Parts: sequence; C-alpha cells; structure tokens
Amino acid sequence: MKLEILTSSPEDTKRIGRSLSQLLSQGDIIFFLGELGGGKTTFISGTAEGLNIKGNVTSPSFTLINIYDFVKGGIKTRLVHCDLYRIDSFKDIPDIGIEEYIYDTKSVVFVEWGCFLKEKISRDYLEIKFEYFFEDLDAEDNPEAMNQKRKIIFSAENSYWKQKLELLKSMKLF
Ligand SMILES: Nc1ncnc2c1ncn2[C@@H]1O[C@H](COP(=O)(O)OP(=O)(O)OP(=O)(O)O)[C@@H](O)[C@H]1O
Ligand SMILES: [Mg+2]
Repeated sequence: MKLEILTSSPEDTKRIGRSLSQLLSQGDIIFFLGELGGGKTTFISGTAEGLNIKGNVTSPSFTLINIYDFVKGGIKTRLVHCDLYRIDSFKDIPDIGIEEYIYDTKSVVFVEWGCFLKEKISRDYLEIKFEYFFEDLDAEDNPEAMNQKRKIIFSAENSYWKQKLELLKSMKLF
C-alpha cells in the first residue's frame, strides 16, 4: 500500500509527522529515505513534538544515534533516531552497539538513510520517502514556493503498517 501526501512548507511536513506520532507503538521501526534536504529530519521533529519530546531534534549525522525519552499511555518509551548517511553497509557502522538500539522492541526506531539495513530487519517496518516536487507551471514565477514542495510517500507491505496508514489517511492532516 502506498499513501502519497504533498506538502508546501516545512510546517506542513511537521504537521504530518505530528499526526503520525499518534499512531506509534513500542517496537515500531520506520525508514526515512529520499534526497538530501528532502525533509526527513523536519518530519521527525514534528513527530517528536507530537510525542512531547522537548528540545530540538537534529540529524545525528556524526553521533549516528540520538535517543529521546518520552511517555506514551503511561509507558516509558524512547525514540531512537539514527542517521546512517554515508554508511553503505552494516559492517561499516562504527562499533557503537547500534544493533541493540535498532532491535530494541521497547523503543520506537527511526532510521534516516540506512537502506541496506532494511533487508536485515526481521520486523515489519514502514518506509517513508521524501521527494522534491516540481509540477506547477508557474515554478519560474515563484521559485521560492516551488522550493518548498515535497511529496511524502508512505509504503507498507504488511498488514500492521497498512492498518496504521489507513488510520493516517482518515485523519485531518492540515
Ligand atoms: N515542504 C517541506 N517539507 C520539509 N522541509 C522543507 C519543506 N520545504 C522546505 N523545507 C526545508 O528543507 C530542508 C529539509 O531539511 P531536513 O534536514 O529536514 O532534510 P533531510 O531529508 O533530513 O536531509 P538529510 O538527508 O541531509 O538528513 C529544511 O531546511 C526545511 O526548512
Ligand atoms: Mg536529516
């Protein structure tokens, strides 16, 4: 199942991230794919806001992992946010015990890039891809507005995430 949503500003992208936060449960794992500057971290910061995580969420490009604690439904949980940009295979990941975090079923795990990891994951996951979206004919008249358009493509091949995507589809997003 695919769900495509167009956004026209970073705020709209964050808003969708916030909506998704309502559907998350412990053990959920999401891969964020797509171009540089596509909006992965922007989306994730909206999700973090929705989970009541205080403070700024930034890409852990150097540390590879950021961890944030939050409480959902009275249960203490954590958001594990990985950024595997420039890492091409599992063996290239520095020895920081990343597997422990990624396979922790008590956390919610978000992975930016890290396409190579998908094959290794034995749990159901959701994939969210971010693309720049240039379609309007008036792009030349308003390049700034065009620069803000993104297509967010959610893909799920398992019933667990398909169900959640159906719920997301039925939510008022903007
Ligand atoms: N509709 C939009 N949605 C998300 N971000 C947008 C949008 N329009 C403009 N932007 C801008 O694009 C940039 C997106 O950066 P962000 O760090 O979220 O991307 P990223 O996909 O995480 O990049 P990287 O691959 O470098 O980690 C931000 O500067 C944001 O303000
Ligand atoms: Mg990022």
